[in-house]
Parts: sequence; structure tokens; C-alpha cells
Amino acid sequence: MKNCDKDLFCGVNKAENREPEKMDALEKKHTPVIEAPESVKKGEKFKVKVEVGKYKEHPNDHDHFIQFLELYSGDTFLGRVDFTSEKTCPVVEFTVKMEHGHPLVAYEHCNMHGTWKSFEKDIKLE
Ligand SMILES: [Fe+2]
Repeated sequence: MKNCDKDLFCGVNKAENREPEKMDALEKKHTPVIEAPESVKKGEKFKVKVEVGKYKEHPNDHDHFIQFLELYSGDTFLGRVDFTSEKTCPVVEFTVKMEHGHPLVAYEHCNMHGTWKSFEKDIKLE
């Protein structure tokens, strides 16, 4: 669901389908994938892995690379990592504590293909 079909830099890009086999190459390379527990204890630390290029490797060259990755809980900002080309890869592990059960969502920005949003990852708080 893109705001502007012909302009990757207008709005936020998101794959139409969650299943990787239904994604096109651009969606596979750019959709951030969140790995986190299905349920966690309120206020207790847990790990969240976010990876760009899990379904198809994204280039990591000086002229084409992932510039940053951000993690949110609902609308609440949790963290951001900036990358340089070639020397770092867009795979990050955050340590998170949640007081509210908002779904996790990640954004990444590619210098050639704009900003991309992950699918929401629901977290059940115990
Ligand atoms: Fe790209």
C-alpha cells in the first residue's frame, strides 16, 4: 500500500502481502522483518530482532544501502540505528521493556528506494 505508486520517496512503502512468496523483489529486499516473543511479562526486558533483507539480500554498496532502521511500539519511538555502507549490515537486536501491549513496528530507509514499514508484530503482555 503505497501513497504514490510511481514515487518511492513519497510517503511510506509497505508490502501488500505478509507472505514472502507473494512479495515482489523490491518488497523482499526492503521490508523490515521483526522477530520477538509472542508474549512477554509487563516491564521485563526482552529481545527484538529487526532485519532488512531477510527474504532477499539488499545491496550494501556506497551508492545503494540502508541508511537507518527504527523501532516503535505503536506510535511510541523505541530506538534507531544508523548504518554506513559496506561495513555494517541492517540487522539489529534491541532490548525492550513494555508497559503497554502496543504492536511493534519497524521502519527502514534506503537511499535509493525510500522508507519502508514492516508488518505489525503483536506482543501479548502477561
Ligand atoms: Fe534499496
